[in-house]
Amino acid sequence: MSTKKLWGGRFTTESAEWIDAFGASISFDQLMAHEDLEGSLAHVKMLKHTKILNATDADQIVAGLQELQLELNTGKLTFSVENEDIHMNIESILTKKIGPVAGKLHTARSRNDQVATDLHLYLKHRLPEIIGVLIQLQKVIIEKAEENVYTIMPGYTHLQHAQPISYGHYLMAYYQMFKRDIERFSFNQQHTDLSPLGAAALAGTTFPINRQFTADELKFKDIYANSLDAVSDRDFVLEFLSNASILMMHLSRFCEEIILWCSYEFNYIELSDEYSTGSSIMPQKKNPDMAELIRGKSGRVFGHLLGLLTTLKGLPLAYNKDLQEDKEGLFDTIKTIVPSLKIFTGMLSSLKVNEEKMAHATEHDFSNATELADYLANKGIPFREAHAIVGKLVLKGTQNGFNLQDIPLEEFKKISPLIGQDVYEDLKSKTAVERRHSAGSTGFDEVNKQIKNAKKELDF
Ligand code: ARG
Repeated sequence: MSTKKLWGGRFTTESAEWIDAFGASISFDQLMAHEDLEGSLAHVKMLKHTKILNATDADQIVAGLQELQLELNTGKLTFSVENEDIHMNIESILTKKIGPVAGKLHTARSRNDQVATDLHLYLKHRLPEIIGVLIQLQKVIIEKAEENVYTIMPGYTHLQHAQPISYGHYLMAYYQMFKRDIERFSFNQQHTDLSPLGAAALAGTTFPINRQFTADELKFKDIYANSLDAVSDRDFVLEFLSNASILMMHLSRFCEEIILWCSYEFNYIELSDEYSTGSSIMPQKKNPDMAELIRGKSGRVFGHLLGLLTTLKGLPLAYNKDLQEDKEGLFDTIKTIVPSLKIFTGMLSSLKVNEEKMAHATEHDFSNATELADYLANKGIPFREAHAIVGKLVLKGTQNGFNLQDIPLEEFKKISPLIGQDVYEDLKSKTAVERRHSAGSTGFDEVNKQIKNAKKELDF
């Protein structure tokens, strides 16, 4: 006597409910219900096209699946743990609707190629939206950069004042980082846009299927070349998680700077009220919660990448149930990165820049030390020597409370008679930025060029 399960033929004992619940994926893979129906429709149309099923049966199945699509869209489909996963849930609902002919749908197919197909479709459908929100962010970056080409701030290395830069230049650095993210997601789409359908359980099938037909129906660019690879490959998910991790790392770095810069000590920027929160006890507080939360959420995305890598690392070919663990991390990552990007974009576009505070920070520090060393080097003093001279002046300045631009000309003349009045122009932070003409530098002209190129890239 067999059990009630769809695959219960060779079983004699029912498993306990709690054991079934452990093995079930319906609680999360129902997110792929649309894709599952889409895949099944393509499959049954192919079965009809290849005459594996007769037209009457195939048409009946198509009609049933289409009804299920409608029911799904209107929230009328309900799933149960007894049917384990989305694939068997849908088959069982279809059977109730159209009778035993539903059992013909699974001809020349396995849940192994079915689940892989669903997952490919799921990610394939979402990558364009993710790229779209990234482009929105890039546009806001460009707008902000355009407003701030001439806003001068300290550039940092080791979080110490290094050299003055344009805030627009700083922003455009992030433009480049997100551009690479987009490139990575686009490449990811190449490996996602492949059809595993028709690989069946692992070895292909003796039925005269047409894999290109289903691939075309589902608008896949190509089909997997090897049936074992088709059902066991999750590289496209790993690539996605890796790309998402790099993206979240970028957002997290950006957030870290925002958090730091809206502190009392920096006060370079002010977040709009919409993206800030207050404290239940300290009335004065305005906290950068959204930036902190995005920075925090990077952790779970990195975790999903490591989780799936670990799941996959010991798996023999082809399908293993371990692969069921591929979904929750992927779903959660999409659920995390899309709102993170949208919130970040709004936060960036609405934040106020405190230009005076930024500029002030470059006018009362030693971030013009390189300019003085370069000035001396231009007068013929070997750069190493010039570096040492300026270093000593900086030491004196820090000990006695003056900056390089406060040094009287007579004092400069004692160092080198070659130093003239023009040194003071070079010591201004604006001059330091303006005079940089090397390609990709912070010079105003170069920043304007970057912005122009970026606009051209986005057709914006
Ligand atoms: N729920 C399963 C998963 O997500 C579907 C594939 C099951 N295949 C099997 N041979 N048990 O991986």
